[in-house]
Amino acid sequence: MKHDVFNFSGKVALVTGGSRGIGRATAELFAQSGAKVVIGDIDPAGSETVDEIKRYGGEAIFVNTDVSDESDVRNLIGAAVKSYGGLHCAFNNAGVLPPTVMLAELDETTFDKVIAVDLKGIFLSMKYEIGQMLQAGGGAIVNNASIAGMIAEAGISAYAAAKHGVIGLSKAAALEYASKGIRINALAPGLVETAMTKPWFDDSAMRSYFMANSPIGRFAQPEEIAGMVLFLCSDFASFAAGQTFAIDGGYTAR
Ligand SMILES: NC(=O)c1ccc[n+]([C@@H]2O[C@H](COP(=O)([O-])OP(=O)(O)OC[C@H]3O[C@@H](n4cnc5c(N)ncnc54)[C@H](O)[C@@H]3O)[C@@H](O)[C@H]2O)c1
Repeated sequence: MKHDVFNFSGKVALVTGGSRGIGRATAELFAQSGAKVVIGDIDPAGSETVDEIKRYGGEAIFVNTDVSDESDVRNLIGAAVKSYGGLHCAFNNAGVLPPTVMLAELDETTFDKVIAVDLKGIFLSMKYEIGQMLQAGGGAIVNNASIAGMIAEAGISAYAAAKHGVIGLSKAAALEYASKGIRINALAPGLVETAMTKPWFDDSAMRSYFMANSPIGRFAQPEEIAGMVLFLCSDFASFAAGQTFAIDGGYTAR
């Protein structure tokens, strides 16, 4: 489907975690809206997102990237600039969700991994994106947090800690760079049906619990998050900076 609402012609958009789920839907929407897209992911299936984009006449590259590794992230931003001459928009979205477990049973390795990918990955991505955007005179960054960055649920303490950190990091970075033409915001999606949440949806008790607590009466599809990313990266959002935008069907409104 061709989308004409947003026009990103002449822009370069970076999406981490673009191999599947929310990242893939966003990478495809950026491409359909005219952007040249750079996908960084630890999963080589990112090249399938590139193939799909090219099938519809778009432009994209895939760069194998672990967002928790500084040299990988530096290489990713370098590849964007080398391939397409710059970087205008970035969606820092790569993330992991560990199995649900109470804090006293959470092992240190799992905690460290979640913080490394979900929080440090956002720091490293912004560090190199901002460096490039400063040279180019501006840009827009959207960091994918979660409603778990605003409220908590039992059993996801490491994830909630990382996502609360993403919101704090986004606010601090926005204050530092708003006057330099770089707008930085965070997203707080509610439950989206992706591979990440499949174990939750496959658990009928959990599915019923979330459904009963969803004011809109359903879960989101990845495309419904992608639209907000493009809006925040577009000139329609030219005065939006340092905020967290919940897209949760009303979940956090109560
Ligand atoms: N699905 C939801 O309900 C939901 C809700 C709120 C927030 N989120 C957030 O949205 C983002 C995307 O989640 P999703 O639901 O699309 O999940 P997903 O598992 O479908 O996609 C996550 C992507 O991140 C990649 N990734 C994981 N670790 C990486 C690493 N170290 N380096 C690079 N890439 C890595 C994976 O390979 C995958 O392509 C995550 O940050 C997640 O926390 C998801």
